[in-house]
Amino acid sequence: MIIQWYPGHMAKAKRVIGEQMKIIDVVIELRDARIPAASENPVLRELIQQKPRVLVLNKSDLADPFVSEAWKQQFATEGTECVLLDSKAKSSRQELTRRIMSAGRPILERWERRGLRARSLRTIILGIPNVGKSTLINTMARGYVAAIADRPGKTRGQQWVKIGKQLELMDTPGVLWPKFDDPQAARMLAATGAIVDEVFDAEEVVAGLLRHLAEHYPSALRQRYGEEIPTEEAAAMLLYIAQRRGCLLPGGTVDKEKARRIVLQDFRQGRFGRVSLESPEGWNEA
Ligand code: G4P
Repeated sequence: MIIQWYPGHMAKAKRVIGEQMKIIDVVIELRDARIPAASENPVLRELIQQKPRVLVLNKSDLADPFVSEAWKQQFATEGTECVLLDSKAKSSRQELTRRIMSAGRPILERWERRGLRARSLRTIILGIPNVGKSTLINTMARGYVAAIADRPGKTRGQQWVKIGKQLELMDTPGVLWPKFDDPQAARMLAATGAIVDEVFDAEEVVAGLLRHLAEHYPSALRQRYGEEIPTEEAAAMLLYIAQRRGCLLPGGTVDKEKARRIVLQDFRQGRFGRVSLESPEGWNEA
């Protein structure tokens, strides 16, 4: 999916989600567990206001479990409970459903107190591109294919998936833009694939990624590319990788571009094992 976020796109996304919020009870915010701060959309809080929110750190199967635990505690001290999820896993459905019902309980209780007939809680998945929104919708919807007829008014054309007795999930996610303004965050977003390859400087991103791996996950780097990899300098690491992987241009010059693509691909596919790019203490190099 190629999305270039221009001010017009952002204004539209904001408008659409603002409109949808009128009929949503509980928001599911997806972030990338490898970069829980960098993968936050800058205006999401403003958009959802006081609505109950379930914060999901997704792709947790790719993130460092110790760092993810630290994030969980950090969010807890800020009063936010978060859930670590692998949206491809079937078990995620039950876990997320439980969290949504728990976040929405005050609403159900309010309806009961007012003597209103309880309806299902309506929920939507929001997040930046590539964070796993569609995958999670598919996992949630599996086995519950019953699509609900259009509702009148503003949501015409919008389909809902009924999950169990008390929950409905909007079948299209809300897509929000990532943080572009913070160069550090932008580099991490590029490394994870949240920013499309055409719009970032691969040289900088891969150099940062290699420095980060060398500092925090050196054995993963050695295991992947060879025991002798020189980990002091990004340029030397890249050269070593290019040579080991036979990245050569006609004439025998080193194809650094190809080596960079290999490193990015390896990271995105989890071939370094479980790696996080930022921790609550703030370490990052990417
Ligand atoms: P989006 O709707 O937010 O844009 O994201 P989408 O679900 O399309 O997921 C983007 C990529 O991330 C997909 O990989 C998807 O399989 C992968 N993904 C989503 N959630 C998780 C997760 O929890 N763990 C892991 N490891 N991967 C996840 P892809 O390479 O684009 O497609 P595919 O190779 O899986 O078909």
